[in-house]
Order: sequence, then structure tokens, then C-alpha cells
Amino acid sequence: MININFSGLMQDSIGKNGLTMNDFNSIDIKKINESLMSRKYPELEFLDLHKADTSQIKELGKYAGGFENFILLGIGGSALGPRSILEALSPFHNLVIPPHPPFLKGGVGGLKPRVFIYDNVDPVTLKNILGIADLKNTVINVITKSGSTAETIASFMIIWQKLKEQSLKAEGHLIVTTDPEKGNLRKIVNDYGLRSLPVPQGVGGRYSVLSSVGLLLAEAIGIDSDEMLKGAKDIHDRCMNQDLRQNPAYMFASGLYLTQQLKNRNITVIMPYADRLKSFSEWFCQLWAESLGKEGRGFTPYPSVGTTDQHSQLQLWMEGPEDKVVVFLSVEDYGADLEIPAVFQDMEGLSYLSGHTLGELIKIEQEASEIALTKNGRPGITIKIPKIDAYHLGQLFHFFEISTAVTGLLYGINPFNQPGVEEGKNLTYGMMGKKGYEDRKKEFESYRQRNPLSL
Ligand code: PA5
Repeated sequence: MININFSGLMQDSIGKNGLTMNDFNSIDIKKINESLMSRKYPELEFLDLHKADTSQIKELGKYAGGFENFILLGIGGSALGPRSILEALSPFHNLVIPPHPPFLKGGVGGLKPRVFIYDNVDPVTLKNILGIADLKNTVINVITKSGSTAETIASFMIIWQKLKEQSLKAEGHLIVTTDPEKGNLRKIVNDYGLRSLPVPQGVGGRYSVLSSVGLLLAEAIGIDSDEMLKGAKDIHDRCMNQDLRQNPAYMFASGLYLTQQLKNRNITVIMPYADRLKSFSEWFCQLWAESLGKEGRGFTPYPSVGTTDQHSQLQLWMEGPEDKVVVFLSVEDYGADLEIPAVFQDMEGLSYLSGHTLGELIKIEQEASEIALTKNGRPGITIKIPKIDAYHLGQLFHFFEISTAVTGLLYGINPFNQPGVEEGKNLTYGMMGKKGYEDRKKEFESYRQRNPLSL
């Protein structure tokens, strides 16, 4: 089970920048409990994903796992979750030639399918993917809950046409993950008899990793999705405890909320000490930014990775502006290790490392950074992860989703919408000629004609 240590937020550890237990008395936890229990927002349905029936996902995962290549088209919440599963649980996935080392997961027939996640509209990336992945041997998972996201729809249309040009049957190669009833993609699924999976209506994009959005890819590459859901279930029970002091998600949310309100800490640095959790940090950053950044509220999330960024950013965390909380993710068992050999024994500057292991070094460095930060009076939280596996990754996803929703409830904002991104989308629709957005086109053009200061 993951374990969250909040000592680094407290006055006892860091002095005047820290909180006291009395500070937590200002949190109206009864209200939070009620909001969660009564499902104040329909999008709180993500809380139930660990109980969902996944048989359809598994069946399609097996089908997708039989292909050479798996291309995922999606963006934001429809891509960051799957990417973090892939990179945490099957690192170097596309580079490994079977037979692969035992700590890497293999899909049906080794590391097949190779996975390409296209979550942008950079033309070169898609051209390169299509240059590598022969569509004849490729399954394409189009993920868009709304069925109307321009980026995903555009790449879907390109691939649809390419399949047609190669006389390949769309129904054999496409799996569409979208709203169960509504939207353009659902209509196409029905009209053309495509394979599909529903994204539960009450589950928002960035809270959907433990639904068909993340689990199809997991199953296709041989990751046990039941383990992820079991992890989520086990942390769920702890995060539903109505006593703030016994509930890690309530403590995380209110700890960060209070350090912002009382100590002006507006930046949340997430710093896993594991390369495999780099994409997880990006997933967290989206969740934290898009859910909470509204009505003048929110935190700026910042992804970092230890030990690498100790040599680029840590100086700022230690002595820069007093505006950050560092969330360390520390791994107890890396699952593999390397001993540093007894070479260059006559050189003191090197020989002290001999006999230790890389696993030992990375763990010592994490603790050293944590201690140095604390000594400097800078707040931090440490999350200890026993192992990076499906079970604990499921816990991390669910823990951060609940913590984010609770932080939104503390702010009194809706943590599930994203009104701020609509305007940019509408202007794009206008310029790309979508019906009903003609006035946005005019606005766009008049903006272009103005002469902003440009050197
Ligand atoms: O969290 C969200 O709701 C967004 O980031 C969406 O996931 C993103 O905009 C993609 O939306 P869709 O799945 O509808 O294409």
C-alpha cells in the first residue's frame, strides 16, 4: 500500500512555513463528506470505476494484442493516462526485442503490439508513425469521449482514408472509445459497425484512466487491469474515511490547500524518483491544472524527476521564491538493481561508491533532498510506493484523482469542467470553417490584422 508522509508540511519539521494541526480545524470536512456521498457532481462516478465490469475491455484487449502495432489517437485525458501506464509498466516497450527481460511485461507474443500514442496534430509525428506502422498489421484505438475534439477527429479522418486507400476494412482495424450514446464517433460506430468501448458518461476525461480509456491499452500489452483496479479499490476505502486525520486524500488536499491559503504556496512540484513515472507526472499535472485552475484559484503544477532534476531545478526549490510544495514520490523496491563494482580502488573520489547499488544511491539521494528541503524550511510531502507495478499504479491514480476532486470541493469550484479551454477551441472551429462559428472566424481575422508589437 502506498504511504503518504505529511511531516514535511508541519511547523514541527519546517518551522514558520509549516502548518499546525489546529490549522486543519478550519476545514469543513463534514461538507466534503456530504459532497462525495451525495455525488454532488455526476462526474464523481470515477469513484466507482474500481467496481466496473471489465469483461468487454479484456476481450477487446486480447483482440488488439494480436496486432503488430497499436496506434492510440487521443489528447489530454484521453492520452496521458494510457501513456503513463505504458511507460510505468512496460518501459522501452517498442525498443525491446523478445525474449524480453522478465521485469518487462509482454503482450500476446512478446512485446507486441508496438505502441504509438499520437496526442497532437504535429504532421511530422503522424507521418513518422504511419511510416513505421504498416496499417495492415495495425489496430487503431481512437479515444474521444466527446467525439468532437478537433485534433483526434482530424487524425482519425486521415487514418480512415488511409485504410480505405489500402482496401483495409475499418471494422477490422478500429476500436473506438467514446461516449456510450452520444457524439460523432458513436454515430460512426453505429453506422459502420465498428468495435467500440464506452467511456462511462459520468467519468470526465482526466479522471478516466481506470476506465476503458487506460485499460484497453493495458490489456493489449499484457498488463493485468484487475490488479490496477484492485489497487484503486484498496486505497479507495482509506480515502473514504470520514475522519480527516485518517484519510490520506483529505490530508493531501487540505494540506496543500492550507499551505496555499496560509503560506502562499501556489506551485506544486511533483518529483518521482523513477524514470518510469515521468509520464505519470504529466498525467498528474493535467489533472491538477485543468481541474483546479479556475475562478482565480488553482496551483501551478510542475513536473520534475529525481535524481536528474536535482542537477537542474533543485537549487530553485531550495532557495528560490517561497512559493512551492515539493511532492516526492519515493520507490521502495525498484524490481532490479545494479551493484557499483570495486574498480578504481586507489581513487578516494570514486571508491566510496563501490559495493553500493544504484537502487541504494537513488533512495539515499531522494531522502537527502527531502532532509535538505526540510532543513531549509521548505514544505514537502513524501509518497512512498512499495513497487512500480499495476497494483500500486492503480492506487496512485485513484489517490490523486480523489485528492484533486476534494481540493476542488475545498475551493468551492467544479473540479470537473474546463470552461477556460473552450474559447480557443471555438476560435479554431471558426477558422477551420465549422458551421455556427462564423463570428469567431471574423474575430480571429480581425485579431490577425491588428499590429501587435512584433520585433
Ligand atoms: O480532462 C478533460 O476532460 C480533457 O482533457 C479531455 O480529456 C480532452 O479535451 C479530450 O477530450 P475528448 O476525450 O472528448 O476528445
